[in-house]
Amino acid sequence: MDGRLVPESQAVVPFLTAGLHYGMGVFEGIRCYDTALGPAVFRLDDHVERLLASARILGFGPLPYDATALSEAVHETVAANHLRACYIRPLIYLADGGMNLSLDTGRPRVGIAAWAWHDYHGGSATAGIRVNVSSYTRHHPNAMPTHAKVAGNYVNSFLAKTECSRLGFDDAVMLDTEGFVSECTGENLFLVRRGTIFTPPVDSALSGITRDTVMALAGDLSLRVVEERLVRDRLYSADEVFICGTAAEVVGVREIDMRPVGDGAVGPLTAAIQREFREVVSGRHARSAGWLSTAPERPVSGTLESQGVQAPR
Ligand SMILES: Cc1ncc(COP(=O)(O)O)c(C=O)c1O
Repeated sequence: MDGRLVPESQAVVPFLTAGLHYGMGVFEGIRCYDTALGPAVFRLDDHVERLLASARILGFGPLPYDATALSEAVHETVAANHLRACYIRPLIYLADGGMNLSLDTGRPRVGIAAWAWHDYHGGSATAGIRVNVSSYTRHHPNAMPTHAKVAGNYVNSFLAKTECSRLGFDDAVMLDTEGFVSECTGENLFLVRRGTIFTPPVDSALSGITRDTVMALAGDLSLRVVEERLVRDRLYSADEVFICGTAAEVVGVREIDMRPVGDGAVGPLTAAIQREFREVVSGRHARSAGWLSTAPERPVSGTLESQGVQAPR
């Protein structure tokens, strides 16, 4: 928290923190994988770059930490928690003012947490998940900053996710304000038709780092990926549908709006992308070295123990 390692019980914010009241914060979701070279953070530079871009898009003034400091702090947080595989959550939020809704009357504070989070969609992920098209519309890009991971944006996601869970689905597809497929609540979406992979452009959707990874891996497999607007009917007539994001990773969709996708099982191209992705993140792929970042050689500057704190196990 703001440059100090503290146990979770002390990672607290005062009640009068504008970030908490108005969603004035930007964050990242990053994963660290257990590899033969030790815990390795996937596409750390890209996540840190997007975090800083989100802060700029939101309009934060100068931040107390630069990209190098944030990247080092991510590694330190993982090490301090003795985690090998985990999810990492950096958050820059407005504090010390800002209750009048102006970013300029508060100042940004930074926290980074890490926890073990294996399977975002639970047991359903392997067999493929069931999704619905949400009754909620994705943000119009001039209503919310759709290219930034802004805390307040996620009201839209949690409305859709809570609705879909209550209806008995695993996740929800969100349509944009013109009725075209945008993305899911926290994942980008791909469909496969006759051997070609299609994905919506990132106008109203987040430009996902996993999406970019999938597109690169599909290219390596000589699969054609086409970015184009998709009406919901294309989901129903697809041979395969899969979604991807840092938390969810790559997950097949076996049913949409009570219609089976293809033959109702995870399809072959989805499985091929999943296999490649798994190889990459476990450090066994030709692309692994470029995308995985292990902790710096030198000892990290502080551990919870060095501050007299018992780390969570
Ligand atoms: C709304 C939304 N779309 C897509 C994604 C996938 O992005 P990434 O692959 O960078 O995690 C996320 C997760 O960060 C998200 O929150």
